[in-house]
Amino acid sequence: MAQQILQPAQLTLIKPPAPFKAANYVASKVRPAFSTEWGALYNDDCLKILPHIQSDSVDTVFADPPFNLQKLYGSKVSDDLAEHEYVEWCHRWIAECVRVVKPGGAIFIYNLPKWNILLGAELTRLGLNFRHWIAVSIKFGLPITGRLYPSHYSLLYYTKGKPKTFRKIRTPIETCRHCDGEVKDYGGHRDAMNPLGVNLTDVWVDVPPVRHRKFKSEKRSANQLSTKILDRVVELTTNQYDVVLDPFGGAGTTFAVAERKLRHWIGCEIEPDYVEVIQDRLLSKDIGHHHNDDVIEG
Ligand SMILES: C[S@@+](CC[C@H](N)C(=O)[O-])C[C@H]1O[C@@H](n2cnc3c(N)ncnc32)[C@H](O)[C@@H]1O
Repeated sequence: MAQQILQPAQLTLIKPPAPFKAANYVASKVRPAFSTEWGALYNDDCLKILPHIQSDSVDTVFADPPFNLQKLYGSKVSDDLAEHEYVEWCHRWIAECVRVVKPGGAIFIYNLPKWNILLGAELTRLGLNFRHWIAVSIKFGLPITGRLYPSHYSLLYYTKGKPKTFRKIRTPIETCRHCDGEVKDYGGHRDAMNPLGVNLTDVWVDVPPVRHRKFKSEKRSANQLSTKILDRVVELTTNQYDVVLDPFGGAGTTFAVAERKLRHWIGCEIEPDYVEVIQDRLLSKDIGHHHNDDVIEG
């Protein structure tokens, strides 16, 4: 696909002081499929692109890879590997993500608990600092015979040394959707609580599933995350004009959120059809952003 610079205003009308220069981060012999004022997308296997990204250069990595659940992503992706092959494949892109993230930068990996327990061990082995195992509650999951009812995905959060950016997020005090009364009594300390809300916890029960048509592309209806997850990843660990890398672009949620929050981004997506989906999303503003009442304190 020929390189293309998208000009129309994307999700935001605000432009960065200078357009994003991918060549400052990625060897210029590798050409993006398209660029915006805020970022650049590469249409190739991330294992081929990541080695061309400069070491210690990006602020946050967010990775939502295929989960090896035999899903169909397109002709270039096998989502049905032997278990050891899948884990070895993850180790290969994880090693690159660790290399390219800045000292103090963050790495997030979204996956099933079954895989993330192994991928977290690899991040620890590579010397990263464990910050959190965030449980993202699954709405409408399916029961599995002979098992507990699976009700969360895992979002690993590690940093390369001491975190350089950790911004405080508050979430609204929980209320009952029927009577509007507060759900918890806070042990008699309610009056002393911050009116802006409570500190974001490591259990996220308020992330909506991406079900409604207005939140997804007609050309790609599955495997898309809520913008609320990315809102938090970006707000917690980056500042304006920082760079977020996502090796598994999908429907472009990470890039859409980055642009909306005035962050730069670098992405890979192996399937050309999904590259088109991402391009449409950044151009058209048609795909909705989930409602989010978080308050960012600092
Ligand atoms: C689970 S989806 C990501 C969804 C994304 N987080 C979103 O919210 O839209 C994983 C994506 O990774 C892509 N992919 C799989 N293997 C890849 C690889 N080796 N390099 C780059 N992209 C890959 C798939 O085509 C798919 O679009």
